[in-house]
Amino acid sequence: MESVSKRILPQHQRRFLPTDERKLGFGDIFSDHMFKMDFHDGQWRNPRIEPYAALSISPAAMSLHYGQLIFEGMKCFRRQDGRLALFRPEANFKRFANSSHQLCIPQIDQELALAALKELLFVDQDWVPHTPGTSLYIRPFIVATEPHLGVRPANEYMFMIITGPVAAYYTEGFAPIAIYVEPHYSRAVPGGLGEVKAAANYAASLFAAEEAHKKGFSQLLWLDPCQHKYVEEVGSMNMFFVIGDELVTSPLAGTVLPGITRDSVVTIARDWGLKVSERPLAIDEILAAKKSGELKEAFGSGTAAVISPVGRLHYNGQDIVVGEGGIGPITQKMYDEIIGIQYGTRPDKYGWVVLV
Ligand SMILES: Cc1ncc(COP(=O)(O)O)c(C=O)c1O
Repeated sequence: MESVSKRILPQHQRRFLPTDERKLGFGDIFSDHMFKMDFHDGQWRNPRIEPYAALSISPAAMSLHYGQLIFEGMKCFRRQDGRLALFRPEANFKRFANSSHQLCIPQIDQELALAALKELLFVDQDWVPHTPGTSLYIRPFIVATEPHLGVRPANEYMFMIITGPVAAYYTEGFAPIAIYVEPHYSRAVPGGLGEVKAAANYAASLFAAEEAHKKGFSQLLWLDPCQHKYVEEVGSMNMFFVIGDELVTSPLAGTVLPGITRDSVVTIARDWGLKVSERPLAIDEILAAKKSGELKEAFGSGTAAVISPVGRLHYNGQDIVVGEGGIGPITQKMYDEIIGIQYGTRPDKYGWVVLV
């Protein structure tokens, strides 16, 4: 494995974390360094860590025209003992490899990617914030850089990892959200890109999400693209519903992203002895469960929020209040458990934590 070369900023040229970590927000601040590796002449080459800086790529770079662009999202947590921890990073790099495959991008060595990430985190360790709930967001991505106009897989790529400190998701407290159930538009289709993390999926979601924003909803729940009948996922979260004594999430049938938090929730809930079903769930079943009093809880799962309680759904002009509209016991217990594993205050019995 080629070793990672480093060009590191001298201490006096480094920027620093904002002192008020409550003002970090999400996605606007980037750490001092980035990892880069190029693909050309049939091989990934020259893994390196460099100061964070603008890129120079051709205006004809194929990703800019045909969207051959994939990414991942994960976090690094600072624990009470000062150690830095990643949560299931191998799963992210495995999903990254699936995304590469689907978009005809040459595979990167998953072990090299994780080793490179650890080196980058070591260099920028001071960028991992300290306040409880904060973390360092990690964004690995690959862009096609070959200058060529014409639709085909590119022959040149750049793999990069950038990072940036992010605030605790729940600065105002762990609060239920309202979700708009999208009756018309679709995010992904069977046989398409829905199950991989391709930039194209997010472009496809923008119009409907903006329409939902105009109606006052920050999140949108997609229904299946064929019948608009079965719930799929939210913008950047998978969805779970507690109906009676069953925890239900949609199956991974091609149009839904296989979330790493989703998999963690399923594993933990089964371990707790809950009845967990990965099965099609019709919005009509949710309406019927509401009527019969069986709709107990709903929550989203994803890297950004970990668990996001859902208090209300809005579907075709109707408001569906979930349970009492507050935070259900399974939702709260799941949030506490996963956060506890990530920050090291609860045992990591599944071996999910990778210390840096
Ligand atoms: C479309 C979509 N679904 C679900 C998720 C949740 O996935 P994960 O738990 O791996 O963050 C994400 C976030 O990555 C997403 O973008």
